[in-house]
Amino acid sequence: MNEMKNSSYSGFYKLSPEERLAEAAEFCGLSEEDKAVISSGNSLDMDKADHMIENVIGRFTLPMAVGLNFTINGKDYLIPMVSEEPSVVAAASNAAKMARENGGFYTSNTGAIMIAQIQLIDIPDPNFAKIKIYENKSKIIEICNEKDPTLVKFGGGMEDLEVRVIDTLQGKMVIVHLKVNTLDAMGANAVNTMAEAVAPFLEEITGGKAYLRILSNLAVHRLARARTVIKKETLGGEEIVDKIVTAYAFAAADPFRAATHNKGIMNGIIPVVLATGNDTRAIESGAHAYASISGKYTSLTTWEKNADGDLVGTIELPMAVGLVGGATKIHPTAQVAVKMLGVKSATELGEIIAAVGLAQNMAAIKALATEGIQRGHMSLHARNLATVAGAKGEVMEEIVKKMVSEKNVRLEYAQELLKEYENRK
Ligand code: MEV
Repeated sequence: MNEMKNSSYSGFYKLSPEERLAEAAEFCGLSEEDKAVISSGNSLDMDKADHMIENVIGRFTLPMAVGLNFTINGKDYLIPMVSEEPSVVAAASNAAKMARENGGFYTSNTGAIMIAQIQLIDIPDPNFAKIKIYENKSKIIEICNEKDPTLVKFGGGMEDLEVRVIDTLQGKMVIVHLKVNTLDAMGANAVNTMAEAVAPFLEEITGGKAYLRILSNLAVHRLARARTVIKKETLGGEEIVDKIVTAYAFAAADPFRAATHNKGIMNGIIPVVLATGNDTRAIESGAHAYASISGKYTSLTTWEKNADGDLVGTIELPMAVGLVGGATKIHPTAQVAVKMLGVKSATELGEIIAAVGLAQNMAAIKALATEGIQRGHMSLHARNLATVAGAKGEVMEEIVKKMVSEKNVRLEYAQELLKEYENRK
């Protein structure tokens, strides 16, 4: 085995899962216990599972893999990914390899500011109420922050306020947004508690009735951003750059295409969100709402050709992930996944996830704009079938190659080819 010194490792897929884990553990500095947690499908014990949700009857396991080749802000990462979908990990790794040749991904974020909404109804003079609420900003901040002294102690807590008057089916409503820095927590509990605590005071100063008090998943003050430049030579020429830009133009213009384009982005994002024990639905809803923030649903990424003819890509989306609390705290495998990334903050985790989304998108639209996605899918499918047939190592490669080149990807054929190989020996 050639030791893994960075996130790039040629022939990683040819190793057994145990060998891959050994390499990944070495690279990420995992202990024997961490390795045992990953390799055992049972690390979430029944007792923990029973306390996570209601009416528990068992546990459900999914494959955990690593995305290779990622360089983000000059640092190499192995990306833990949990998914049921074939091709995703290979595609992300492949795109990251192309990005890596030119420095990889560069990322940033807008902080960990979560929004909690308070809906105020039955206010005859909503614009007057809005100004009164703003006037009481320091008192509102005080009431909210009293609810979470620990968050405040570490530098977080409610920081700002926004008041909107909206038109609804039932007339005008006053909507208060609490902007809370939740630091390394996803923050749902913290902000929901604050919203509930401050609602009576808002009723008092406006004379209205506080109705819903809940966070917004459209976390516009908690954005993660990533960018990359991929050399035209790496992609196989400027024509490929043009093809990718044309594929993007379709998604940017058409919501039917944008939905699928963004699904491809989420193919990369959700596996990392899941692996690290975060709330996948919060990320999905935030992403798609943000994709329509202009009033028209569009792409979460952009792809352009720069002055050198190279491909430049960007992504920006809400990324309400945490490192403390929730399943991240309870699920042993999620804890090891966080350790694998070595992240120091939730915003760093969010940035990595955004970079994976960008890579995943590039892989998908490159394939779609050139050979179509079925070819790549075919070789993975062939690999799965060859595995089921019992092939390993070089024999596996030979069988896969033959099935794909002959466009005859069936289990029976894999079995026949394996038999032929064994007879030849
Ligand atoms: C399939 O899971 C994802 C793609 O459809 C994404 C895309 O069309 O961009 C390939």
